[in-house]
Amino acid sequence: MRIIVAAFEETLELGLQKPGQVVPMIPTFVFGWPTGQESGDYLALDLGGTNLRVCLVTLSGEGKFELTQTKYRLTEEQKQEDGSKLFDFCADCVAGFIRAHIGDKDGSIKEGQELALGFTFSYPCTQDRIDQGTLIRWTKGFGAPNVEGRDVAELFRNAMAKHHLPVTLTAIINDTTGALIASHYVNPRTKIGVIFGTGCNAAYMEKVEKIEKINHLNLLDEDPEAEIAINCEWGAFDSFVHQHLPRTKYDQIVDESSNKPGEQAFEKLIAGRYLGEIMRLVICDLIDEGVLFLGQNTYKIEIPYSFDTAFLSLMESDPTDELLTIIGLFTFFFGLETTLAERQFFRALSRLIGRRAARLSACGIAAIVSKKGYLDEGCAVAADGSLYSKYPGFADRVHEGLVDIFGVKGKNIVTHHAEDGSGVGSAIIAAMTKKRRDEQKF
Ligand code: GLC
Repeated sequence: MRIIVAAFEETLELGLQKPGQVVPMIPTFVFGWPTGQESGDYLALDLGGTNLRVCLVTLSGEGKFELTQTKYRLTEEQKQEDGSKLFDFCADCVAGFIRAHIGDKDGSIKEGQELALGFTFSYPCTQDRIDQGTLIRWTKGFGAPNVEGRDVAELFRNAMAKHHLPVTLTAIINDTTGALIASHYVNPRTKIGVIFGTGCNAAYMEKVEKIEKINHLNLLDEDPEAEIAINCEWGAFDSFVHQHLPRTKYDQIVDESSNKPGEQAFEKLIAGRYLGEIMRLVICDLIDEGVLFLGQNTYKIEIPYSFDTAFLSLMESDPTDELLTIIGLFTFFFGLETTLAERQFFRALSRLIGRRAARLSACGIAAIVSKKGYLDEGCAVAADGSLYSKYPGFADRVHEGLVDIFGVKGKNIVTHHAEDGSGVGSAIIAAMTKKRRDEQKF
């Protein structure tokens, strides 16, 4: 693990020095921490890996907020059809949400009110300004054509124009940056924001003077102490070269059969999108070897991605001796009978897969901690995503990993559940941006 951490740290450093690196270390144009005094009504649009969400966030100006939201499930087709359709869908959802909430019983959106919108677009985008973002590449199984290499802010604005609504796109943000800022808003000890969900990534605050690749922007003229949030896009660590992370043959199959072979090498060992698939591939291998489910019809479990990562957490948390949850899961979803020994084996397998994911996650956190020198003073890491919040024992395993890397001092690094970064964080960033604009800063 320590060897991985050292290589990881070097990679992060390289990303700050030079543009166009595999781990791109993206300056997000979110300057410094929120004051807690940010206030007003903001819209947040959240395009994550699984859902689309529209939120109306009211910041009170005292570090508190209220949130109203509507969620829409994204279909697999929507992730693959032309980008213009995806952005039309985003705009339609925002328009529908506004219409439903204008003059509603709480009167939360007032007639004619101009609303600032923060767009949480959680894919790697290079930015020249906060309200612009060029998609480097899709991740998390998305493949919508005609978006890579283009400014997603412009695509979204074009789609919104059809609706003639009083909405201004103020900021494009990443979910990790949102988690970092929203959590710092309520807990100022927070120094790192991490997402363990469909994808896996982290953000932290860096001194502008340490980011060689943006020297030419002369940001230090405005403020020599300036800091900027960095979206690491660490899911790409070890992509293409596969030098640092040990991979099994199942990891290689997941990678090669994905829509982006070679890419997101770190993410593919950790994120919720892939863990169930790794488990399924092990099971299928044993079926092929004639070890499992002899004489049973196995076609359902042979369908790629049919084994949800949520099944791993269900199997791990089965409280019964007979492992009744696992019986139910295999019969209901796959029409398969299991023996007790098989169920115990499946449970052990999910432990291995989940534990490896958590320990690798610890390596990523450790790389940032060590780079920033946070070990002695300690720091809080705000974490979110289904794996972190729903997978039993995931957080404990990350903490164990940190102690294995750093010894007892690893206990100074504590993860906690992040505030809603993609909703509330997005609103706070929109508010911070508006304030900078009023002060005519970059
Ligand atoms: C993927 C995306 C990244 C996002 C993460 C978590 O790694 O590339 O932008 O932060 O998933 O959602």
